[in-house]
Amino acid sequence: MKNRILTGITTSGTPHLGNYFGAIKPSLELAKKSSDSFFFLADYHSIIKVNNPQEVTSSIENIALAWLSSGLDTKNSYFYKQSDIREILELSWVLHCVTAKGLMNRAHAYKALKENNSDDKGVNMGLFSYPILMSADILMFNSTHVPVGPDQLQHLEMTRDIALRFNHIFGDTFEIPEAVINNDDPIPGIDGRKMSKSYNNVIPLLCDEKTLKKSIMKIVTNSLEPGVPKDHTNCNVFSLYINFASDQEIEEFKDDYANGISWGDAKNKLFDKANETLLPIREKYFDLREQKDLVNDHLSDGAKKVRPLAREFIEVIRSKIGIS
Ligand code: TRP
Repeated sequence: MKNRILTGITTSGTPHLGNYFGAIKPSLELAKKSSDSFFFLADYHSIIKVNNPQEVTSSIENIALAWLSSGLDTKNSYFYKQSDIREILELSWVLHCVTAKGLMNRAHAYKALKENNSDDKGVNMGLFSYPILMSADILMFNSTHVPVGPDQLQHLEMTRDIALRFNHIFGDTFEIPEAVINNDDPIPGIDGRKMSKSYNNVIPLLCDEKTLKKSIMKIVTNSLEPGVPKDHTNCNVFSLYINFASDQEIEEFKDDYANGISWGDAKNKLFDKANETLLPIREKYFDLREQKDLVNDHLSDGAKKVRPLAREFIEVIRSKIGIS
């Protein structure tokens, strides 16, 4: 069966380990087994929360560099900016018109802000209909598999609902996509909550050794003294370590905990492993970053490859709804 994967990252902030282990790495692995892969920068999603143009622009550049430094092969995939494919916004409107408002009322991101806030303060319409733009991203290319973190599962369910609804009204048009959950447990940030720019708890992916070490040393632990056995479950240092280490190294680290490793030593071990894994990515990043126009060239090539597909399909959709 033809299997087309598609995923995107919102371009806000700098890329961090949560993006890498939650999206980039598993998606690139899945891409090796898929016939087609679409990776994009969700820049129109970012303006829901960010209204500083410099921040949006620099985030687009850095998230693009994160994909490229992590090994994305633009020759064998489609790599593009959401905003370059204008047809996505056109599709988004069409999908708005088949989406029940009640479905959007139930979206977690909206519900969280709505709590104790009957006037919807701080909620713009972009946030409210965020899952519809995401559906347009996915349905525009008839993707079959969408690798995402567990927090995006609800958006995938909504995408399926919206696609089924459209197909029901206008006849078979969209593939019904499936979520592929990358990591059952979200990558913890330095405070133990899910690593996220909104919590200000990230460990950057593309930084020098010193900055990496400094972030790791800031990870919150309990105050047990060296020599006192420690529980590795629910420990932020341990939960990060397992992403970098082999099974055997993980077992050894468990023993270290049982034997009362100090938090300083545990963090140093995490740093050594993380640094070893991130070194080649970082070196590539420092190299690519110096190549003026590299990101723009990749993205404009990507847009040239992707846009004809979107143009063709939007014509089909327009004729289904009676606008051609
Ligand atoms: N909402 C996703 C996130 O914040 C980003 C995203 C936008 C996305 N459109 C998408 C992910 C389409 C997968 C498919 O992580």
